[in-house]
Amino acid sequence: MSSNIKEIKRRRTFAIISHPDAGKTTLTEKLLLFGGAIQVAGAVKSNKIKKTATSDWMEIERQRGISVATSVMGFEYKDIKINILDTPGHQDFQEDTFRTLTAADSVVVVIDVAKGVEPQTEKLVKVCLMRKIPIIVFINKMDRPGKDAFELLDEIEQKLLLKVTPLSWPVNMGPGFKGVYNIFSNSLTLFTPGKQVIEDGLRINNLSDTYVDDYLDEDADKLREDIELIDGVYPEFNIDDYLDGKISPVFFGSALNNFGVKELLDNFIEIAPSPIGRESELRFVQPEEAQFSGFVFKIHANMDPNHRDRIAFVRVVSGTFKRNTYYQHVRLDRKLKFSSPTAFMAQKKSIVDEMYPGDIVGLHDTGNFKIGDTITEGEILNFKGIPSFSPELFKYIENANPMKSKQLAKGIDQLMDEGVAQLFTGKHTGRKIIGTVGALQFEVIQYRLEHEYGATCRYEHITLYKTAWFSSSNKPQLDDFRARKANQIALDKEGREVFLADSQFSLQMAQDKYSDIEFYFTSEF
Ligand code: G4P
Repeated sequence: MSSNIKEIKRRRTFAIISHPDAGKTTLTEKLLLFGGAIQVAGAVKSNKIKKTATSDWMEIERQRGISVATSVMGFEYKDIKINILDTPGHQDFQEDTFRTLTAADSVVVVIDVAKGVEPQTEKLVKVCLMRKIPIIVFINKMDRPGKDAFELLDEIEQKLLLKVTPLSWPVNMGPGFKGVYNIFSNSLTLFTPGKQVIEDGLRINNLSDTYVDDYLDEDADKLREDIELIDGVYPEFNIDDYLDGKISPVFFGSALNNFGVKELLDNFIEIAPSPIGRESELRFVQPEEAQFSGFVFKIHANMDPNHRDRIAFVRVVSGTFKRNTYYQHVRLDRKLKFSSPTAFMAQKKSIVDEMYPGDIVGLHDTGNFKIGDTITEGEILNFKGIPSFSPELFKYIENANPMKSKQLAKGIDQLMDEGVAQLFTGKHTGRKIIGTVGALQFEVIQYRLEHEYGATCRYEHITLYKTAWFSSSNKPQLDDFRARKANQIALDKEGREVFLADSQFSLQMAQDKYSDIEFYFTSEF
């Protein structure tokens, strides 16, 4: 066991997720203000892929370049080291978000009170539930008219399949919004439009005391009724259930007005998990172990075309990461050392000597890393849990300049390592298929191949509905499937077989006919 226990206990590494526009950026910014990490509001805005740019992919790439600095935002609050992992809001970069979630120990989901549960929230929460990540819900924009709080909680339970329990409760909303009652601490925080609230709420000993009426007038009775109803309907908050991902506490507030954010943060540091270990193919690795281990969950290309280096983001799982120390790159079976590992503190980057479990270290990379790689102090193990999902859009990619086939191959290889898209190679035809989640990536790939690798590509149409990984213990059936579907089998980048289903119907047919074969839509099975 290492002597890192104190450092581990005081760390919280989490991601904020939401449907675009719910208020993720604003909330992040307010949290950073509390940590003293930034001094002025507006500082994090560059992090966001702006709405106006949704069809302008070059602008999006440029903004993603800027966001390297805000990929991880570390700050200290009440002697707790908080690492916020940024997730791209744009839906075409959803896979980035899924991967980032593998490096987080918990999440905060932001929901717009007027819009309720939106499609991207649903998708992201589903992934969190798969991984049993503890979830806190923050209902935002209470200064605006929105859905009734009880109805919204019902909607969350139904659509997100979360069991919830409110830890704060709003007194009205929209123009009549008066504040929130903090169920956890029995205190009332009053809302004044335009005033940022940074002090603790008023302590209330008993909601039936008459001075509550002085503050809330006619809304006092409604609050008393609501709280009574909550007591009857929702389970009492239990930290173990939250940590097991079985129950999600809910907070209400307004990020823009910095209202309810301090309550969220104070509760968060109390209840959110400190760094959790990770499962490897060999064994479960505990954060307290003395030997260093970590995995790459994100690779960001340098946006400067003169430098083709990249930053690999490594989540420290166990032990202490030290500068200028040789570590084992398990996949390559090579020792590597890093002279300028980078830590991310809010918007600043700095070179660090030591990093602890839960921390994210940025390593300059010239092409050694790909997503999912494990580095250790020597032990040969591979962390699990960086899934690939079956893409939604597909195209054949062809070389448009025969003189540059080497460059093209290298470019495609490296872009796939970064996780920009997935590559499948037809087992018989040898043709390369690019699969993506969003249409933007095709343009991004074409542009980057040309500008960073000097290669030109051309796309050709392919009729493809889904790719499915498959396995079976029934060898004769598997052999029959392989023989009959030979033209519809490709290899993914790791050399695993995938079935190229050209329609929902053909997938269904295959599933019906080959009942002993399991088809999977994520690479982790
Ligand atoms: P996102 O990162 O989840 O996409 O959302 P972001 O924080 O950028 O917020 C989206 C919009 O919602 C922004 O307005 C922001 O000011 C607003 N907003 C965030 N929190 C609140 C809140 O508590 N109350 C109200 N009324 N609005 C809130 P915008 O006009 O789109 O952007 P901007 O021009 O203000 O930057």
